[in-house]
Amino acid sequence: MKVLVTGAAGFIGFHVANALLARGMDVVGVDTLNSYYDRSLKEARLKQLDGQANFLFLQMDVSDRDGMTSLVAAHPDIEIVIHLAAQAGVRYSLVDPYSYVQTNVMGQVVLLEACRALKELKHFVYASSSSVYGRNRSLPFREDDRVDEPSSLYAVTKRAGELTASTYAYLYGIPQTGLRFFTVYGPWGRPDMAYYGFADAICTGKPVTLYEGANLSRDFTYIDDITAGILDIMDLPPEKGQARLLNLGGDRPEHVTALIGLLEKYLGRSARIELRKRPVADMEKTWASLEGVRALCGWTPKVSLEEGVMKFAAWYREFHKI
Ligand SMILES: NC(=O)c1ccc[n+]([C@@H]2O[C@H](COP(=O)([O-])OP(=O)(O)OC[C@H]3O[C@@H](n4cnc5c(N)ncnc54)[C@H](O)[C@@H]3O)[C@@H](O)[C@H]2O)c1
Repeated sequence: MKVLVTGAAGFIGFHVANALLARGMDVVGVDTLNSYYDRSLKEARLKQLDGQANFLFLQMDVSDRDGMTSLVAAHPDIEIVIHLAAQAGVRYSLVDPYSYVQTNVMGQVVLLEACRALKELKHFVYASSSSVYGRNRSLPFREDDRVDEPSSLYAVTKRAGELTASTYAYLYGIPQTGLRFFTVYGPWGRPDMAYYGFADAICTGKPVTLYEGANLSRDFTYIDDITAGILDIMDLPPEKGQARLLNLGGDRPEHVTALIGLLEKYLGRSARIELRKRPVADMEKTWASLEGVRALCGWTPKVSLEEGVMKFAAWYREFHKI
């Protein structure tokens, strides 16, 4: 079976491509390799994939209409599309909002149009985000909650992606699932995310910026749980015409100070904490209701924050030669 993975040099895309190759599938990986964060990390991830049989990498932009049209014409046997390419990050969407619209909104339309041309397509699986819950207060967040009070442009573009996909399900019957990921972390992770930035600060003796708030917590989800979830769900497309949305979260919201404590423990150094006011675009607390995904396939997160941070710290020390 041939699978198209967009964002294949990204954190989640790399792990998913690896797992698909281990299952013996053919993977076409696409990524623009932009420099939103250290490009050498993306290249290092790709290096792990490049040597593997059945992996083809194409450096291209998912919002490039002609490029995507040519790609699907060259690979009409793609049966699954896992669309993970995005301009990610909440705070950067206040700095360069245009890049979010280009990749997350235009890119989603281009991918869905490409899917229309794929006659063998069984399932379009794409990344959304817990950010769509924005200023909602009722926890845990459920997929059928109203989500019309986003707190960042990133969230707006992710919600626009969901609505676009849902319209394509209605109009063209593209079988699809949108996945709302909750703070994914782990080896080969993203340097722009808090856990990685905390590790950098701890290891270089710089202050760790912690935002104020007794309730500042996240439903951290370990990368292997996310990868396993994506692969399970990929095999279970909904009926044609149905637009499915599922949360994938750790189901154990933890205060951010617990994360810092574990990083100190497994990096073997102390953090110097500097308190700051929480930026308005950042959510205070996240927690995923997992009823939907449990009912579909029984998925449940297996890795505790302690085990996950231990594995991340081990990778971090080796990768950064600390
Ligand atoms: N990591 C998380 O905690 C998290 C949480 C919620 C949602 N998500 C979503 O999951 C998906 C994967 O996230 P990630 O953490 O792996 O991020 P990532 O930034 O590591 O991966 C995204 C990849 O997409 C590539 N990309 C960006 N613009 C592109 C374009 N126009 N064309 C082709 N490639 C492009 C980037 O170069 C990058 O390698 C994204 O859609 C993200 O919004 C992630």
